[in-house]
Amino acid sequence: MKIASSSDLEKLEKIGRTTLYPAQLKISIGMSTCGIAAGAGVLFKRFQEEADRRNVDLMLTATGCLGYCQKEPLVDIRMPGKGRVLYARVIAEDIAGLLDSLASGSWPDTKALAIIPEETESGKDTPPELPDVPMLAELPFFARQHKIVLKNCGLIDPFSIEEYVARGGYRALAQVLQDGNPQRVIDAIIQSGLRGRGGGGFPTGRKWEICSRTDEKTRFIICNADEGDPGAYMDRTVLESDPYSVIEGLTIGGYAIGAGQGFIYVRNEYPLAIERLRHSLARAAEQGLLGGNILQSGFDFTVRIVQGAGAFVCGEETALIASIETGGGEPRPKPPFPAESGLWGKPTVINNVKTFATVPAIIKKGAEWFTSIGIPGNAGTVVFSLVGQVADTGLVEVPLGLSLHELIETIGGGSLKKDKTIKAVQTGGPSGGCLPAELFNLSIDYETLSQAGSIMGSGGMVVMDEDTCMVDVARYFIGFTRKESCGKCTPCREGTRIIHDILSRIVSGEGSPQDLELLEEVAEWVKKTALCGLGQTAPNPVLSTLRYFRSEYDAHVSEKRCPAGVCRSLITLTILPDLCNGCGLCKRECPNEAISGKKKKVHVINTSRCIRCKICVDVCPEGAIEIGR
Ligand SMILES: Cc1cc2nc3c(=O)[nH]c(=O)nc-3n(C[C@H](O)[C@H](O)[C@H](O)COP(=O)(O)O)c2cc1C
Repeated sequence: MKIASSSDLEKLEKIGRTTLYPAQLKISIGMSTCGIAAGAGVLFKRFQEEADRRNVDLMLTATGCLGYCQKEPLVDIRMPGKGRVLYARVIAEDIAGLLDSLASGSWPDTKALAIIPEETESGKDTPPELPDVPMLAELPFFARQHKIVLKNCGLIDPFSIEEYVARGGYRALAQVLQDGNPQRVIDAIIQSGLRGRGGGGFPTGRKWEICSRTDEKTRFIICNADEGDPGAYMDRTVLESDPYSVIEGLTIGGYAIGAGQGFIYVRNEYPLAIERLRHSLARAAEQGLLGGNILQSGFDFTVRIVQGAGAFVCGEETALIASIETGGGEPRPKPPFPAESGLWGKPTVINNVKTFATVPAIIKKGAEWFTSIGIPGNAGTVVFSLVGQVADTGLVEVPLGLSLHELIETIGGGSLKKDKTIKAVQTGGPSGGCLPAELFNLSIDYETLSQAGSIMGSGGMVVMDEDTCMVDVARYFIGFTRKESCGKCTPCREGTRIIHDILSRIVSGEGSPQDLELLEEVAEWVKKTALCGLGQTAPNPVLSTLRYFRSEYDAHVSEKRCPAGVCRSLITLTILPDLCNGCGLCKRECPNEAISGKKKKVHVINTSRCIRCKICVDVCPEGAIEIGR
């Protein structure tokens, strides 16, 4: 088959290189949701104003998220012939100083986080002269990472198809269309061992093969970008930072299974991702990379965005399909599986954002390359949003098989508060489980996490320290799934309510030891009998905390104590006279006027008025408020 790929892509690549590696000063600001939330939008405007005022010859661009969300706003500065440096937590007040230094041709060293190595047209760029600033890959946050899905994130302008192509984009699609053999694509994905990154870890190639072998000729392919887990934002970031990688993977998938129509199901709460996707789909179509006769190969493929209303259950594949069909997201029993009978009864492949974003790299570099990363049975990398009580939060991509310890302690930098010990990690969101710090030597892979009572999930990883009550955590998650249950099946609708009621009794000091037995019994019943994955996995946080943190449950029910000092009904607050300096901050901030005392005299809490909100604990500069637990 003759396709016009090479020359068309070369043209795009050439343009992309001129903006990636311009001959003038280039300042790129991370403008994903995390960057914007940290002030990058204002910063961008101020940079523009200040550069205009000074008449600086400057190329100012917005990129996506580099992953180090903790350090946002991140500003990446490139001086032609002098290298490239990343600056962290930049604020508007830094701009004048930065531009002054750059105008004199020297690198500002304040707020310099790392040197970004760079290949340019003329070979390796000269490294900046900043002896105390490490290379990006030397930072502990990045040192153990292996970026496949995130390789472009934060480094390209997500609106620029040219920059995507200049970094190797669309070569994989061109390659498969040139080859003209969809089965070979499926074989490559099977051989790579790629497993779905949406949670279950089903082999992607096998799913594609099942779908491609159906007799029905109308087939669909859907990218699942619903991402409803609390604490998870991997898919949003990939869509905001590198939308073309997902679109290219989806297009390759469509070609492999013989689909003419693809969908991206993305939640309404992701407006930036939707905007960037819309733009990217239009640009791809304009360049002949979507639509009729793609790259003149004879392959027709279009993609439609469907905006979900933000129900967690709509991430479940059969509910997602129902949501596209009718607008109402209720799951249905499986089998039949969507690959055989899905959207409008037609064979349908559904894969996660990151699954699709991995596909182009496998096609280009080969299955063997992919299996060389990770561990047997768990090839490749996995992306996590590392959040909670950990020092360095952000988006990380690591080879499967890395230990939880390496992820949390080495990459994440350990506990956020250095005087607090990390106690547990929650993987897999509300469908996952809480694993104790004693198990941090476990390998991050589908089977190990599942045997330990959690799941890989789509990539949310919430770290908790000693100040977290595990009973309260279980109650939070079951409260979430209870609200998100669609109500179609009784075990999920009623079971999550019963579990939530029991846990509410326990955290308010009204639980009994019999409640723990009941809790276990109901949780097991919901797991076994619920209709869909939401109900079947909803008890995981409860069962895993019962398994690993039983003593905390016992303390709540038998001793009416919350060892973590969280559950309001089970704690008391007292001001320690020896430590109180009489500053009066606690008295001023107490929302219920429960604290009395004269200036410079020891203060006292009136326990009958105290609502145990712990605001006094947070504001006391002397640590004088003791939590009785
Ligand atoms: C309650 C529930 C929510 C889910 N949410 C998502 C989601 O947001 N994104 C996702 O890719 N998969 C989600 N899944 C898994 C999907 O049902 C499906 O297995 C996945 O999209 C398949 O893609 P993969 O093979 O690439 O992992 C969810 C499953 C359940 C039970």
